[in-house]
Amino acid sequence: MFPRIPDFFCVGQYQIAKWVHWIGDRVLKKILVVFGSPHPNGNTNRLVKKFLEPFSSEQFDTQLFDVYAERVSPCIGCGWCAMQEDCCINDAGKRLDRLLRECDLLVIASPVYNLSFPSPLKAVLDRFQRYFEARFSLGKKPPIAKHRLAVLLAAGGSPSEEGVEIMEKQLNLCFSVMNTTLSGTAAWLSTDRGEIGWEKAEVALNRLSLAILSQI
Ligand SMILES: Cc1cc2nc3c(=O)[nH]c(=O)nc-3n(C[C@H](O)[C@H](O)[C@H](O)COP(=O)(O)O)c2cc1C
Repeated sequence: MFPRIPDFFCVGQYQIAKWVHWIGDRVLKKILVVFGSPHPNGNTNRLVKKFLEPFSSEQFDTQLFDVYAERVSPCIGCGWCAMQEDCCINDAGKRLDRLLRECDLLVIASPVYNLSFPSPLKAVLDRFQRYFEARFSLGKKPPIAKHRLAVLLAAGGSPSEEGVEIMEKQLNLCFSVMNTTLSGTAAWLSTDRGEIGWEKAEVALNRLSLAILSQI
């Protein structure tokens, strides 16, 4: 019925669709989930669902950007964004730019692929080059006006943390020009061995959710 939409989102889509409004005297907080798994109901989705549990109240509006559904084209290094604050590629990257500028919390949720992000998500990170050029070629300081927190939720088949560490390094590099702070990571490792690593992942997810809740 909802192809490629993970079930955590199917609940949220019936919530209030407006991006900005007030509930009593509290501002609605916007959460953007950039979802990087080809499996809408796989291990990465399980991480997302668990992480978002404490954010289920009406105070939070969760938007999903599924990179396998959205098909963001790779950066072609044309230099356009060094001349104007824009990207010459007219695709879902434009929508992502709008969602990104508005959100209070950015969740990057991804499986580990060859010690990195799956290629559609890597394409998204490369398209963030426009913010680097806005900062250093166009002198925009900061290139994105609003500050946001970010978290990395990662699922890896092996027990090694190496891929997750590399992914964190990549995000820190991108975020350094995006007015975005990577606040923490929760990883589910050894997924190839079934449930063995889930308990540790659950503890990390709970800790991370509560830490973020106290900050946004
Ligand atoms: C192409 C490919 C490359 C992978 N590379 C790694 C890797 O480098 N390290 C690792 O720990 N797991 C690796 N895996 C395993 C996935 O990260 C793991 O199965 C993950 O739990 C999948 O999450 P998903 O259910 O959301 O797709 C790889 C899987 C695929 C398909």
